[in-house]
Amino acid sequence: MIVQDKCVLITGSNRGIGLAFAKQAHRLGARVIMAMRNTDGFTQDWFDERVQLIELDMGSSESIERFMQNSVLAEVDILINNAGQLTGGILEDQKVTDIYSMFQVNLVGLIHLTKLMLPLLEQRPKAMIVNNSSVSGIMHLPCTTTYTAAKTGVVAFSSSLRQDLKGTNVKVLTLITPGVKTRMFDEIAPKYSKHMDVSSLSTISPEDYSVRVFKAIEKNQSVLLPTGAERVGVFVAQHFPQLFEKLASARFKR
Ligand SMILES: NC(=O)c1ccc[n+]([C@@H]2O[C@H](COP(=O)([O-])OP(=O)(O)OC[C@H]3O[C@@H](n4cnc5c(N)ncnc54)[C@H](OP(=O)(O)O)[C@@H]3O)[C@@H](O)[C@H]2O)c1
Repeated sequence: MIVQDKCVLITGSNRGIGLAFAKQAHRLGARVIMAMRNTDGFTQDWFDERVQLIELDMGSSESIERFMQNSVLAEVDILINNAGQLTGGILEDQKVTDIYSMFQVNLVGLIHLTKLMLPLLEQRPKAMIVNNSSVSGIMHLPCTTTYTAAKTGVVAFSSSLRQDLKGTNVKVLTLITPGVKTRMFDEIAPKYSKHMDVSSLSTISPEDYSVRVFKAIEKNQSVLLPTGAERVGVFVAQHFPQLFEKLASARFKR
């Protein structure tokens, strides 16, 4: 899928990985629809007539339904479901309201928006849905019960949907996103480190990651796996789950 001249919609695009995706799509010559909770005063020095901002709260089904009334959405070729929230720590310490909100944004809202966008994407000559999961969608580490459950849901939803869409013009790309240096990554230590050694986690920049993701889009890949040590971790978790659990729990202290 050539990104130039396509229309790319990105949720949660006001900061972090989503903002880097928007910039990279724009750099490659796409039209960019940046969906975010609050568009008031939001601007970037690279903005031009190819960029449009629309308000969307992925935590609210009403907001998703309202968002869908924008006629420009009929022109979208690539939907990037990126918005996300992080929960973590042992389950007893996680706030129930945070868990509901995270599931709504990371999984239920993602499914809702995808369902409503699908009939529009099916009208395009070629289309793609890109779902931002995580290494947590495969590597089920301690302290991540709820986040890992939602991100595993994103992996499963994407694999199943890919099969539903076989023979159509719509492809599905699952991102098994590694550590990326954003505000969310900075939330890991305060949330997890009471019980888990997170000192060895590594990151790449959102800009470098967005280059990788758009290469995967252009190559029509189905899954984008991490590289390096995280690739090894994903492999062990997939093929040797008991060994993975043993190694992971060695870094955990109740
Ligand atoms: N960073 C990592 O290491 C990492 C690793 C694996 C996967 N991921 C995934 O990558 C995605 C982006 O994360 P990030 O690292 O860029 O985190 P981030 O800097 O915290 O950005 C999160 C984005 O999601 C948006 N968001 C949160 N709640 C929302 C809601 N109710 N409605 C609409 N947007 C909402 C935020 O908007 P507001 O500014 O309005 O809050 C923000 O734009 C997430 O799905 C995350 O799970 C990240």
